[in-house]
Amino acid sequence: MIKHAHQVAVAEATAMSAGPAEPAGADDHIAPSPRVSVQAFCETVETAAAVQAASEDRRLGKAHVKIQMGGATAAVEAYRNSPTPNVIMLESENRADDILGALDKLAEVCDPGTRVVVIGRINDVTLYRELTRRGVSEYLIAPVGTLDIVRAVCGLFSHPDAKPVGRIIAVVGAKGGVGASTIAHNIAFAIARDLALDSVVTDLDLAFGTAGLDYNQDPPQGVADAVFSPDRIDTAFIDRLLSKCTDHLSLLAAPATLDRVYDFGADAFDSILDALRGSIPCIVLDVPHQWSGWTRRLLVSADDILVVAGPDLANLRNAKNIVDLLRSSRPNDRRPLYCLNQVGVPKRPEITPADFAKALEDPPLAIIPFEPQLFGTAANNGQMIAEVSASHKTADTFRQLAQVLTGRAEAKRASGGMLGPLLAKLKMMKRAG
Ligand SMILES: Nc1ncnc2c1ncn2[C@@H]1O[C@H](COP(=O)(O)OP(=O)(O)OP(=O)(O)O)[C@@H](O)[C@H]1O
Ligand SMILES: [Mg+2]
Repeated sequence: MIKHAHQVAVAEATAMSAGPAEPAGADDHIAPSPRVSVQAFCETVETAAAVQAASEDRRLGKAHVKIQMGGATAAVEAYRNSPTPNVIMLESENRADDILGALDKLAEVCDPGTRVVVIGRINDVTLYRELTRRGVSEYLIAPVGTLDIVRAVCGLFSHPDAKPVGRIIAVVGAKGGVGASTIAHNIAFAIARDLALDSVVTDLDLAFGTAGLDYNQDPPQGVADAVFSPDRIDTAFIDRLLSKCTDHLSLLAAPATLDRVYDFGADAFDSILDALRGSIPCIVLDVPHQWSGWTRRLLVSADDILVVAGPDLANLRNAKNIVDLLRSSRPNDRRPLYCLNQVGVPKRPEITPADFAKALEDPPLAIIPFEPQLFGTAANNGQMIAEVSASHKTADTFRQLAQVLTGRAEAKRASGGMLGPLLAKLKMMKRAG
């Protein structure tokens, strides 16, 4: 990152800005950007601060973002003798003619593959048309927020006509044995059956995972084959490792054997998830209860997170730690969600949902009662709760969790305010041209 005096100003502007950026709703799904270089030439500290915050967002985790002040003039100067990055972002406070003039100068020094995003103040269709004619990929109207920048950069690399890009839902227990896997499997089952969304459960508990048992499958090695042959991973290879559980549900199973040990680097699962994301709309990760580089990375980079906690003190502490950490490392995302499970064990003193709500500053998404008969039958028969008893209240809870986690149960956010229609028009023009 280029260090300049302006960065002090950026930090100040960030500190001054009114609270955290508006978190992305579940319907506002932004696919992460690939490994690209982005250079922004800003004119205002507010825009520089937004780009700075965007560069720290999980979805731009692989991108290299540099920020500089000086707008288009600085950009033309910078690329006179050096190659241009994948993306140039230009802010201009000027009139339309000046913006277009600057772009024409930039065109002389810009490599053909470089995409240009312009941030300006003028909201005018004639300007849009001229920008499009000059090959500008996106025009954003200032003031821009963190997510506007994230969305613009990521959008450059995901084609509008491309297949739907998968959402990743990570489910993790606040303690071992709290029922995180059971809940992950039942939610995935509901997503596939009740919402008819193609889904994959990825069992990441390689040594002891139970997804194969729970879905009554005797699958191949699945996730182990993939993680131990990273060079072979592509969509076709992953497809062969999936075992089909129901119409819309597949499983990337754990070997659940102990003939080898499972120590992984932090990015061990990156390419598997990229491949899954490219072809399957919904990916449910059954993340084992452990804290390592890769579990942390999976949680931080997921689109949504569900922490499963039992009603005791250790669960409360751990759930709070997990939720706090994820909130602070994902400031532009929906907050991590949590549910309570195995509530109401006879004679057991328990911590109340209200206490959880107070400590975690959010109410639990669901409170699932302890039902040993129901859950025991399901586990031992290799069935889901809805298969054991479709009309049971708990089966309904899983359906509701499926809806919330896939964004079906939320009020749709008004998309993009005033800018929405104009940008849509610009996109249409781009497609037509
Ligand atoms: N609400 C419930 N009522 C009764 N039993 C439950 C409930 N939820 C889960 N169980 C049972 O608890 C046991 C542990 O569940 P599960 O394996 O899903 O937990 P986990 O958190 O994934 O554990 P691990 O830390 O080993 O991965 C299973 O036998 C499951 O059937
Ligand atoms: Mg488990």
